[in-house]
Amino acid sequence: MKIPKDAAIEKRIDELIAKMTVAEKVGQINQIDGFAGGEEEIKNKVRSGMVGSLIMGARDSWDVDCEGSHASRKYFNEIQRVAVEESRLGIPLIYGHDVIHGHHTVYPDPLAQAAAFNPELVKKAYRCIAEEATADSMHWTFTPMLDMSHDPRWGRCTEGPGEDPYVGAAVARAMVEGLQGDDLSAPDSMAACAKHYVGYGAAEAGVDYHKAEISDQTLRNYYLPAFRAAVDAGCQTVMNAFNDISGHPMASNHYLMTDVLRGEMGFDGFVVSDDWAIWQLERHGVAEDRKDCARLALNAGIDMDMRDNVYIENMEKCVEEGTVSMEVLDEAVRRILRVKFRLGLFDHPYTEYRPIDYAAHDKISRELADECVVLLKNNGILPLAKDAHFTVFGSLTHEKGLNLGCWSTNASLDRIDDFEKALRADYPDISTDFYTSAYLDPMVEYTRHAECAVFLLGQHPLMDGENSNVTSLELSDDQIAMIKSVARYRIPMIAIFRAGRPLSIESIEPYFDAIIYGWHNGTQGSHSLAAALFGDVNPSGRLPITMPRVTGQEPIYYNQTTSCRDNEGYYPGNRIGNYRNSLDTPLYPFGYGLSYTTFEYSDLKVDLAEIPYDEIMNGGKFTVRVKVKNTGDREGREVAQLYVHDCVAKLTRPIRELKGFDKQTYAPGEEKEIVFTLSKDELGFWDDCKTYVVEPGKFKVWVGANCYAKDEIEITITK
Ligand code: NOJ
Repeated sequence: MKIPKDAAIEKRIDELIAKMTVAEKVGQINQIDGFAGGEEEIKNKVRSGMVGSLIMGARDSWDVDCEGSHASRKYFNEIQRVAVEESRLGIPLIYGHDVIHGHHTVYPDPLAQAAAFNPELVKKAYRCIAEEATADSMHWTFTPMLDMSHDPRWGRCTEGPGEDPYVGAAVARAMVEGLQGDDLSAPDSMAACAKHYVGYGAAEAGVDYHKAEISDQTLRNYYLPAFRAAVDAGCQTVMNAFNDISGHPMASNHYLMTDVLRGEMGFDGFVVSDDWAIWQLERHGVAEDRKDCARLALNAGIDMDMRDNVYIENMEKCVEEGTVSMEVLDEAVRRILRVKFRLGLFDHPYTEYRPIDYAAHDKISRELADECVVLLKNNGILPLAKDAHFTVFGSLTHEKGLNLGCWSTNASLDRIDDFEKALRADYPDISTDFYTSAYLDPMVEYTRHAECAVFLLGQHPLMDGENSNVTSLELSDDQIAMIKSVARYRIPMIAIFRAGRPLSIESIEPYFDAIIYGWHNGTQGSHSLAAALFGDVNPSGRLPITMPRVTGQEPIYYNQTTSCRDNEGYYPGNRIGNYRNSLDTPLYPFGYGLSYTTFEYSDLKVDLAEIPYDEIMNGGKFTVRVKVKNTGDREGREVAQLYVHDCVAKLTRPIRELKGFDKQTYAPGEEKEIVFTLSKDELGFWDDCKTYVVEPGKFKVWVGANCYAKDEIEITITK
């Protein structure tokens, strides 16, 4: 929920601003690196009122003590003491850090979390993350990353919620609520930061920092909903994206940073620039020099300068010359102070020691890792018997970093087990060989007595993350050679893929009897995957992003809009092939994932199939019901998914759009009625006049196990 403005806080802000010199105001909007230049230099800057915030940048050794990180706590408390006791106005600093999907305890990366289709669990995870990070003096984290993306060549798709705005909004709410807690001023709550606002995931050709070309209606229907959800959940800060949209860099984009974010969405926290994004206005070629960058960015609505020094060097001059008004500067200061007050920093600026229950956090991390495992293929070989004899192949078997993925700066590899260690620890009776060498010839020795082969495949963790883009989503040649080499021995083969993006595995998929997708799934990741092999985890993750057959299909996504001919080839049944050298369909569609049990959907119906427009606009809802039954003989979790298509609209609409999901546990034979509601919020869209419209007419509704759901009904909004 948005945090209402508090009159007492606003009054205190007014009083403070009235006392501030222009230099002190500019200090408030300046964020510096928490380590650069050394402690004395930082203290001097803080003492003179030149700093509003510290970013705890990368420094290997700052969190030397995992059990409470006393070193960092003492360091930051001391700098805070200087701000509070030795600067003229005693305004506390706000400390920010990239606590993206875990602090000391790491959870699955955001793309994997989206695969869990379990926002409640994500919220719990982010509560734990906030507990750990705040104990290490952090008040603010640059999370959630809400960049929807259609193109997994882009390395940062691992940091975001995938290709669906409905999932993106659910994840946004969960992360913000988890981080900020019920009371933002509590010592274990921290301010969230929705980033990168906006359109960053639309980087052309999947090249990081590249331009994006996005129409206003696509922006509002696809890229903005997750940000709206974050703002509505009370998110206190926003970070701008590096990219430009149709020629307008986000760092100088007044329309999006101010008119839409503040005006339309009602955001009243502050915006921080991404690293060097203000100075990069010069690189974009829209500013003449650094002073011009400062002028453009602050006027656009970028309140705080992330370690760029552009504001501190130029803003006083801009105000003096009248290119930035005092009102604009005051407003930026006001927004920053508001967040500091809401965090309670004026009342309790220091971090006190708090013990952390790491075991409890490991447990949540494990739960989330279990829930994001996606079973893509299984001819019945899985789960393996606990006395099965098999060989594990692949050099990634011993790569602990696969569990972490990017932005795990405060995680210790010592707390992570690689796949072999996890298997041996959790299943001490198995008789398994591990062959992780690159030499193919001796493999025969390892396959001769094995009942099956398990492959650890995928991409090294350094292949995804910021500016880690790829031109090919295929596996590396050595992995493909290894698969083919083992295949000669004709034993069943099982693949476990680890990567921060979907890979195109069409060429090697036929070799495997079973395929598990394991992402970068956190501190407990190897244990989850071992348990999935033996059925102690029954996979319940679903793809939050399409798996292409080949890289050349990118960008490929399920919610593409209708088009003039039969080139909607994502969906099976289309007889005109759009490619001469590939099928059109993805290898595995959005929402897809199997289980060790089976589910049946029946009795899809709607309580009332027609509702008048006026009633819908006044809060009326369609109630859609479906029965879901576990038809297998083991317990399992199913994600029932509801998709909608607006049959006739003034703009082309997505062929299908996810508008509801429900994840539940089903005992063997158990049947439940799942109920979804559809209101104006799910049935309308943003048109090309910046207006949210709900158009009378027919809508198709499907409910099923993925975006290919077949059970269909029709509903109508009558005039
Ligand atoms: C650059 C990244 O784009 C952003 O996501 C991150 O939060 C900042 N650097 C701070 O490290």
